[in-house]
Amino acid sequence: MNTGEREKRLRSSALEKKIMTAEAAAKLIKDGDVVATSGFTPSGYPKAVPLALADRAKNGEKIEITLITGASVGPELDGILTEAGVIKRRFPYQTDSRMRNAINAGTVKYADMHLSHVPQFVDYGFFGDVDVAIIEAIAINPDGGIVPSTSVGVSPQAINNAKKVIVEINYSQPLALEGVHDIYMTEKPPFRKPIPITASGDRVGTTFIPCDLDKIVAIVETDITDKVRPLGEIDADSKKISNHIIKFFEAEVAAGRLPENLLPLQSGVGSVANAVMAGLVESNFTNLTCYTEVIQDCMFDLIDAGKVTVASGTSFTPSEQGQIRLYDNIDHYTKHCVLRPMEISNHPEVARRLGVLSMNTAIEIDIYGHVNSTNIMGSRMMNGIGGSGDFTRNAYISIFTTVSTAKNGDISSIVPMVSHVDHTEHDVQVVVTELGLADLRGLSPRERARAIIENCAHPDYKARLLDYLERAEALPTKHESHLVDEALSWHSKFLKTGSMK
Ligand code: COA
Repeated sequence: MNTGEREKRLRSSALEKKIMTAEAAAKLIKDGDVVATSGFTPSGYPKAVPLALADRAKNGEKIEITLITGASVGPELDGILTEAGVIKRRFPYQTDSRMRNAINAGTVKYADMHLSHVPQFVDYGFFGDVDVAIIEAIAINPDGGIVPSTSVGVSPQAINNAKKVIVEINYSQPLALEGVHDIYMTEKPPFRKPIPITASGDRVGTTFIPCDLDKIVAIVETDITDKVRPLGEIDADSKKISNHIIKFFEAEVAAGRLPENLLPLQSGVGSVANAVMAGLVESNFTNLTCYTEVIQDCMFDLIDAGKVTVASGTSFTPSEQGQIRLYDNIDHYTKHCVLRPMEISNHPEVARRLGVLSMNTAIEIDIYGHVNSTNIMGSRMMNGIGGSGDFTRNAYISIFTTVSTAKNGDISSIVPMVSHVDHTEHDVQVVVTELGLADLRGLSPRERARAIIENCAHPDYKARLLDYLERAEALPTKHESHLVDEALSWHSKFLKTGSMK
């Protein structure tokens, strides 16, 4: 590493003395350790030390850890460490197929959690005391203050609670990211104060995470890049979903229930979520703000189109092209963005105060409005609830989207009863598929069922759903009723025959 570049990033000679190889730093992690890391989506997670840790296990050493991250991370952490048999317990979210298979095979114990709960779990040691924090950073200040890279996630709490901190200084992450972060941490109850954020772009903290210099036991220099994921093409169904939502927002403005520039938008992860936001580029809305979790490619389009003035999140989650665009125009985008700790980006208090409009994706939705976002056919963990519940339960209006069928039409995403519940009927206000939108606000369960079936169910399944509802309505109880024996028969039919038809 050339000296000039190193001096810009390691801002005291005391720090330079802590530089060691990834292999030496990995040796500081012991069998049975609880390890908390930076990273939120495949952004800003440590890479070199996890790879060296995996090598120790591959060479026959017994090393098993509990891994806590902000959310999903890249393959060097979840994939390669799982393959090497290093991860035994995992919190709070993942998207890696190797990790998912290990969870479903029972070799990794996983708890899928509301992301806003995680910082408190770390603070109080609910997962066990944190032995080691591994944090990717772009720089360290002379007093130990750590400047994160492309995400913040749970790093502040990991650093605060860990006995030892290992920092990966990543030279592939531009130093120009400095200044985009806003690190604010809450006190423990009963001393916790209101979070002083009253608008998406408010800055209330520091641009670095405070850290005692003595706690930093190793600094590893690396240039391994974030393994960002591709985004699917925006397909016709996603465009239709986006159009239904935009029309709904227009009607809410006309009815005086939303201001002309709406309220801060929150949008989930993945291709549909990206497409929904991308649709706003063509809309007439301007001066929009976002108070969300991840800043995806569509946000750059919205900023460039002059539609979004500020986006607050906890990570940049671009595709490969989005990453190039971000790095090539970093000063431009960071002016419009704020990266916060996930405790703050996902905080119920702030979401409720700002009146967030939440938009998240479901795997399946039932006729009464319960949503399954995580568990395929009630028995196979997909990713996890992530931040969807943090926003949904506290939004001004909570919206769930799904395409009306899955697996080439063999599965209806609208079912009599979901096979697993993540979001209850109490939290779900609007349901949208490519076919239409059901506004459930103020409706009784039976009215909700009709609205969902009429507006959102695929024609191949509509008549059967209505038939189910009518027979359920014939039961003596006239509120929310199910034919319990039959309720999940749609799923068992798919499991037996490969189709719900
Ligand atoms: N029944 C069974 N399987 C279904 C299904 C249904 N009703 N709907 C979708 N699937 C399957 C798909 O076929 C696909 O399977 P595959 O991996 O074998 O191809 C898989 O589920 C994912 O579906 P896809 O359409 O690719 O979904 P997506 O990328 O839009 O993601 C979620 C959808 C729900 C999995 C994803 O949004 C998620 O994990 N959400 C929870 C976390 C969250 O909301 N985070 C944001 C908070 S800020």
